[in-house]
Amino acid sequence: MALAAGRTAHAENRDAWRARFMDCRVRSEALAAPLLPEDMVVQSMPDVSPTKWHLAHVTWFWETFLLAPYLAGYRIFDPAYNHLFNSYYEAIGPRHPRPARGLLSRPGVAEIARYRAHVTAALERLIATVDAAHFAAVASLIDLGLAHEEQHQELILMDIKHVFAQNPLKPAYRSPAPKTARAAPSLEWQNFAGGLIEIGHEGAGFAFDNEGPRHKVWLEPFRLATRLVANGEYLAFVADGGYRRPEFWLSDGWTAVNAADWQAPLYWQRDGDRWSEFTLSGLAPLDPFAPVVHVSHYEADAFARWAGRRLPAEAEWEIAATELPVEGNFLDDGALHPRAATGEGLAQMFGDCWEWTQSAYAPYPGFRAPAGAIGEYNGKFMSGQMVLKGGCAVTPSGHVRASYRNFFPPAARWCFGGIRLAEDG
Ligand SMILES: [Fe+2]
Repeated sequence: MALAAGRTAHAENRDAWRARFMDCRVRSEALAAPLLPEDMVVQSMPDVSPTKWHLAHVTWFWETFLLAPYLAGYRIFDPAYNHLFNSYYEAIGPRHPRPARGLLSRPGVAEIARYRAHVTAALERLIATVDAAHFAAVASLIDLGLAHEEQHQELILMDIKHVFAQNPLKPAYRSPAPKTARAAPSLEWQNFAGGLIEIGHEGAGFAFDNEGPRHKVWLEPFRLATRLVANGEYLAFVADGGYRRPEFWLSDGWTAVNAADWQAPLYWQRDGDRWSEFTLSGLAPLDPFAPVVHVSHYEADAFARWAGRRLPAEAEWEIAATELPVEGNFLDDGALHPRAATGEGLAQMFGDCWEWTQSAYAPYPGFRAPAGAIGEYNGKFMSGQMVLKGGCAVTPSGHVRASYRNFFPPAARWCFGGIRLAEDG
């Protein structure tokens, strides 16, 4: 499989593979544990999938791409699930329409737990028994299956936040986070020389196919802001009529503002002159120092224009991040919300918010999607979407790297997108 083959030395340490797999499966179930069965069925918009569907779909992925082809004598749990839980793989066959996932009251949550247990046990069996000749191929697919389930762990939280935000009771996914109100350091600028650089994945370790091939890019000198844009700064844009002034907006963005009557980021709420923000810990007063989050690419771009700056290009962001440790406020830190920056230098590059870039999600030079269904994973979405970098507060730790390319349509707001400013050097 081209996603990782040839890049990863797949040592045949079966206990280590089993441990990674089990940690991942347990984490998905732990993320669903605070939810009621009723919470897990709701689909609040076509882009949001019910928690129950995520739990079943990642299980279908293991079953379809590993167990069916590689585990001798494997019994498919329920052949009907291929139709229900295939997300977008045309090569696998027809499927239940995405906007109607919330209509699937059956199979119930308990049945999906049984499906998960069946597949988890079978995958453990596969890891223990696959012969040496097939081990590298299986290990490569396990890497992909783990990265895939981690993506859905993030989606479980993104999506349940949107579900709960529609409920007038404003339920909290979990009890309020400890308050760590603190002032952010002032926004400074870090200079980069540019020149002929290389971006894209290289070396050992898993990467998605869309992160390569590594290739050369020419960059003019540029500057990056040392931290994300904070709520207080974004509030100044709102107060200055940012959402009513077409001069800051891309044409499609201005259409989106008016069609949906956007007046502030997705989860902001106004009560007189007081603002609050819906979080996974419920409704909270807007923290002026925490990064603004849940803005679309259009809003990020408009804010940057209002501020007299621009968004970073993908290659600028990547070259700035490439020597930094992949550390930050991720899912495993438990805040589940971006926090105010601390410290000196380039902060918050990883974790907190996915950072919108000005770069369209397009293939790198020489990119070829792998053959077969697995080639549909990333390549076929390379149209009409923008690249986001760095991971966010609900991204599992260890999931991202500097070369990681997330992508969403420019109007998407529920995906924990935030803003880092850039300017020409
Ligand atoms: Fe998926």
